[in-house]
Amino acid sequence: MKLVYVLVSIAQLLTLTQAAVKVNPLPIPRNITWNDENPIAINLDKLLLDIAVPNQIISDAFYRTVTTLRKLQWYPAATEGPISSFVPFPTGDPAKRRREILEKRDLQHTFDLSGLSVVDITVDDPAADLQLGVNETYSLTVNSSSIYIEAETVWGVLHAFSTLQQLIIFENNQYVVEGSVDIWDAPIYQHRGLMIDTGRNYLSIDKILEQIDIMSLTKLNTLHIHLDDAQSWPILLNSYPEMILDAYSAREIYTIQDLQYIVKYAKERGVRVIPEIDLPGHARAGWRQIDPNLVACGDSWWSNDVWADHTAVEPPPGQLDILNDDVYNVIEDVYNELSEIFSDNVFHVGADEIQTGCYNFSSLIQAWFQEDENRTWNDLSQYYVDKAYPLFMNRTNRRIMMWEDILLTPEGAHTLPTDVILQSWNNDLTNIQNLTARGYDVVVSSSTHFYLDCGYGGWVSNDPRYVDDYTNDVFNTGTGGSWCAPYKTWQRIYDYDFTANLTDAEAAHVIGAELALWSEQVDSTVLTQKIWPRSAALAESTWSGNRDPTTGYLRTNNLTQRIFNFREYLVALGYPASPLVPKYCIQNPHACDLYQNQTILEEFGTHNVSSS
Ligand SMILES: *[C@@H]1O[C@H](CO)[C@@H](O)[C@H](O)[C@H]1NC(C)=O
Ligand SMILES: *[C@@H]1O[C@H](CO)[C@@H](O)[C@H](O)[C@H]1NC(C)=O
Ligand SMILES: *[C@@H]1O[C@H](CO)[C@@H](O)[C@H](O)[C@H]1NC(C)=O
Ligand SMILES: *[C@@H]1O[C@H](CO)[C@@H](O)[C@H](O)[C@H]1NC(C)=O
Ligand SMILES: *[C@@H]1O[C@H](CO)[C@@H](O)[C@H](O)[C@H]1NC(C)=O
Ligand SMILES: *[C@@H]1O[C@H](CO)[C@@H](O)[C@H](O)[C@H]1NC(C)=O
Ligand SMILES: *[C@@H]1O[C@H](CO)[C@@H](O)[C@H](O)[C@H]1NC(C)=O
Ligand SMILES: *[C@@H]1O[C@H](CO)[C@@H](O)[C@H](O)[C@H]1NC(C)=O
Ligand SMILES: *[C@@H]1O[C@H](CO)[C@@H](O)[C@H](O)[C@H]1NC(C)=O
Ligand SMILES: *[C@@H]1O[C@H](CO)[C@@H](O)[C@H](O)[C@H]1NC(C)=O
Ligand SMILES: *[C@@H]1O[C@H](CO)[C@@H](O)[C@H](O)[C@H]1NC(C)=O
Repeated sequence: MKLVYVLVSIAQLLTLTQAAVKVNPLPIPRNITWNDENPIAINLDKLLLDIAVPNQIISDAFYRTVTTLRKLQWYPAATEGPISSFVPFPTGDPAKRRREILEKRDLQHTFDLSGLSVVDITVDDPAADLQLGVNETYSLTVNSSSIYIEAETVWGVLHAFSTLQQLIIFENNQYVVEGSVDIWDAPIYQHRGLMIDTGRNYLSIDKILEQIDIMSLTKLNTLHIHLDDAQSWPILLNSYPEMILDAYSAREIYTIQDLQYIVKYAKERGVRVIPEIDLPGHARAGWRQIDPNLVACGDSWWSNDVWADHTAVEPPPGQLDILNDDVYNVIEDVYNELSEIFSDNVFHVGADEIQTGCYNFSSLIQAWFQEDENRTWNDLSQYYVDKAYPLFMNRTNRRIMMWEDILLTPEGAHTLPTDVILQSWNNDLTNIQNLTARGYDVVVSSSTHFYLDCGYGGWVSNDPRYVDDYTNDVFNTGTGGSWCAPYKTWQRIYDYDFTANLTDAEAAHVIGAELALWSEQVDSTVLTQKIWPRSAALAESTWSGNRDPTTGYLRTNNLTQRIFNFREYLVALGYPASPLVPKYCIQNPHACDLYQNQTILEEFGTHNVSSS
């Protein structure tokens, strides 16, 4: 048994009798038991960390927690109930209710600081690195003696802090936890991710760090950065500094030090960073600066207007020439340099959306097909996999991640080693089932549920889809130019049962899920508002599940007040998270429900939640 024990000393008990507010942290813990409703005062001035083997990551996180509590002096903006009476119409006045609660309190309480105590601390595995599958389990007890945190690893302790930070509220001029509480908590899925895209538009370092801050609050543990794309190359490498000529400007770049800082900052907050270099498709910017012959079709018309000739699914086109041997030398250099910066064992190498039309611009590939009439596009993809995979695997403990296209498109490879992690974005459960049945570990990013860029319309110009004409169905009733419309609401994200109908063996290959925000219509100015608070729904569904663990019923209704509160919390912290509802709905629990029946979602059946 490997444990990290952390003791936090607190002030003594306040004995009060009125009902507790029952704040619920987000994600809701796997197991939370309120033992009583006697608020426990926390003396933030004397709060001490007692840990046998000092650990910088833990003490820094603890300091941030205390600082945030002080700065916020948070009182829940949305609480669970009482559910408004609805007859004839809700009249609840939370401010009034809060005054009543405060007035009933015994203001003559005394603090007994002699209650401070020390616990022996055992640290068995503080060295466990933050990698895929690391143990994130923790337990947290707050009672009249102390605050107790037990975890297997440092990373579990950080999750305990994010829970504690949400449990401690500021009421009646005191910091309190509303009663004695026991929490046992652990994630259902190892990979709980968010993908951002710095290739279509540059994202400032500050805004990337902001995502990491919020992710750590919600226990999301994986930031996947789609670093480059055909449009721009923002990374200043030692091996090929000329690639940066395809950054948008000299200011819109990341140096190696910038990237190292992001990785370190994330790690200190329990967030892994998975880099993605998209290969061999979506590749033009940067690569062409090294040698124009590395890139096929980079100067062609992308040709969605004459689809038969298309070379890309969005402008500009460009794919690495699979049959140019120099391509592999350059890939190896770039990959190896980035592998020194990104310490994660998982590295994403793209492999999505290869367009065969692009390779009509490669004389090498055209000659190769002419040499042997029996060669197919699948053979070409296989050639790429067989040549590139050994380069990628030439590192200790490395696992490669790719988009599912490498296997599931008509021009995909025949075979792929089964230790490759595949990210699924098409055809929902069909593709998840297909890949897991074949033994691949899968990260679910189905575009129908987890693509955050959908529903904002299209972005290509000179587009007849926007002509206001009664015969124009796209304009009138269709997707409005957004290929993956509609917009993904927090409910849609939360309700997706992405392991439905899988066998246990297949479900065990789903290692997690990831939201993706492609950045054609995103830059630093809107990044946070497009991601939050709705991504907290995935944070919860991948941590403790979207269904009640005992009944198996969807608990979307139960998430309502939690996510409303969480959005207000983010705004109080200074993050520009989008509003979800009129504030009225936040202050009057469930007054804005469509159905008055609070268990209506039970109609939508049960689904067995994997507990692995
Ligand atoms: C994490 O560690 C705890 C405590 O040692 C153990 O009970 C649990 O099974 C571990 N979980 C995983 C996923 O390894
Ligand atoms: C508080 O919890 C700790 C750890 O579970 C336990 O050892 C201690 O007895 C508890 N104290 C009280 C007063 O319940
Ligand atoms: C979860 O809480 C219940 C009490 O509500 C307790 O009986 C059970 O042991 C707890 N499980 C874990 C794993 O802590
Ligand atoms: C691409 O090349 C193939 C094989 O040479 C040919 O059959 C096909 O018509 C070409 N496509 C385009 C869009 O030029
Ligand atoms: C292509 O396949 C056919 C049928 O298997 C075979 O007869 C032919 O020789 C092959 N062509 C080449 C160039 O290998
Ligand atoms: C892997 O690295 C070793 C040591 O640098 C080298 O000898 C070997 O050729 C490399 N293999 C590949 C496939 O790059
Ligand atoms: C997976 O899908 C491919 C087509 O993309 C199909 O050929 C294959 O049979 C499917 N495999 C499974 C196990 O569903
Ligand atoms: C699961 O399978 C059942 C029976 O075939 C089907 O009715 C249901 O729609 C499937 N669920 C999903 C989410 O595909
Ligand atoms: C939400 O679920 C939790 C845990 O099951 C429960 O304690 C709480 O009462 C529920 N709240 C609502 C509003 O249903
Ligand atoms: C609420 O909805 C559930 C699910 O449809 C149903 O079983 C229950 O009878 C409804 N309750 C009321 C009071 O209508
Ligand atoms: C869910 O689990 C129960 C009990 O283990 C089992 O009887 C049922 O068939 C499972 N349902 C599905 C859809 O896997």
